[in-house]
Amino acid sequence: MIKVLTYGTYDLLHQGHINLLRRAKELGDYLIVGVTADGFDQARGKINTQQSLMERIEAVKATGYVDEIIIEEYEGQKIDDIKRYNVDIFTVGSDWEGKFDYLKEYCNVVYLERTKGISSSDIRSNKRNINIGLVGDLTFLSKFEREGKSVNGVNIIGVFPIDPTDDVPKNLSGLDVVTNDYDLLLSKVDAVYLYFNPKLHYEYIKKALLTGKHVLCESPITISITELEELQKLAKDKNLILMEAIRTAYSTAYHRLVVLAKSGVIGDIVSIDARCTSLRDREQDEKDYYKAWTSFSYWGPNAMLPIFQLLGTEYKQKTIISRLQENNAHYDAFSSVDFIYPKAVGNIKVGKGVKTEGHLIISGTTGYIYVPAPWWKTDYFEIRREDSTQDKRYFYQLDGEGIPYELVSFAKAIQTGKDFSYISMEVTRSIVNLVEDFYKDIGIIKI
Ligand code: CTP
Repeated sequence: MIKVLTYGTYDLLHQGHINLLRRAKELGDYLIVGVTADGFDQARGKINTQQSLMERIEAVKATGYVDEIIIEEYEGQKIDDIKRYNVDIFTVGSDWEGKFDYLKEYCNVVYLERTKGISSSDIRSNKRNINIGLVGDLTFLSKFEREGKSVNGVNIIGVFPIDPTDDVPKNLSGLDVVTNDYDLLLSKVDAVYLYFNPKLHYEYIKKALLTGKHVLCESPITISITELEELQKLAKDKNLILMEAIRTAYSTAYHRLVVLAKSGVIGDIVSIDARCTSLRDREQDEKDYYKAWTSFSYWGPNAMLPIFQLLGTEYKQKTIISRLQENNAHYDAFSSVDFIYPKAVGNIKVGKGVKTEGHLIISGTTGYIYVPAPWWKTDYFEIRREDSTQDKRYFYQLDGEGIPYELVSFAKAIQTGKDFSYISMEVTRSIVNLVEDFYKDIGIIKI
């Protein structure tokens, strides 16, 4: 029996894929198809597949040419698969001509003529692009534009500097719409991304939604639950997407870590310690209304993310301790929050006026996960055990800070009307809840 093996993403299955699979099957008696996992595609920089792995597998199966489907998950897997499945022929489309000659050492390699004039990328880009306008603090928006412009299906076309005195960085000044008029920006785009002092979010989100525009807003979405509920209802009534942005949630390494921790690799989770600090220009911060995020509202959502995602949002008790900035009763230089759960504890330490190690440690009954500083933009973590020979290291490269994946989820949600957020509604609510307590000074111990 001649065994044939081929690989592909098979997103939005098209005639080119069908021809390839038919001819691959004709090369032998038994066809094995490796469908690439989302994570592996992402690691190779292909971040914009429209269908999930399950949907793509179903479509490949439905062609009727395939005897067995496997999942391609890691670099170097092809050699392992060829040996494991006793493969006689490895085949792939001619767009890969020469690229897999190194496999000739293990089996025959056949490049099949690629069907002309069709590809998943073309089908994806034929869908109408979503035009996005950026609103807020230009230093960060400049980075957002640089990372976000690689995403297929999304065009960043405009910017509204919330602080009119800001200099517009080069990459933003070249956008089609650079304006100090929010209404004008709204009239030119399908959606906005907001990054500025959360105290001001409500009015900007409301205006965008009322004008029929989707909103991606940096966390916390609002500083009050009532306002959050009102905006969520407005978005729902108008069939618009209102999505919370915390880019860490979308970074491959962090996402993988959450899945691993939930699967029980370190036993039961007993304690989570998340720290995020940065020594920003505090005087500037305090003066500048538009950018004046307190330590709590700036770092808090990010630090709370792993606690709420892994321990849930049903904590029994919480204690917020804030050290206030001298001469400013409204600005916390540092805050520490303890969450007590029935069988676990969580602690966050956040600061813009204090510096500490920015690690994340998730402790369990059989080991712990250690993510070195700065954990919120890591591409690496370790699972450590009592017996250090059992430690495991995990690398996920090519990830940046998660901005492109966040945008992909936002674009998918707009295109399909479904929720693709990696942050659940309960987590969003709990973050706003805490921020509200902080701003309203409910139960805060001040030092
Ligand atoms: N293929 C083909 N003819 C096409 C498109 C793809 O023969 N017109 C083959 C590829 O050479 C590969 C397999 O189908 O062997 C799976 O390709 P995949 O990368 O999933 O499809 P593309 O349409 O090329 O996807 P993309 O545009 O995202 O690169």
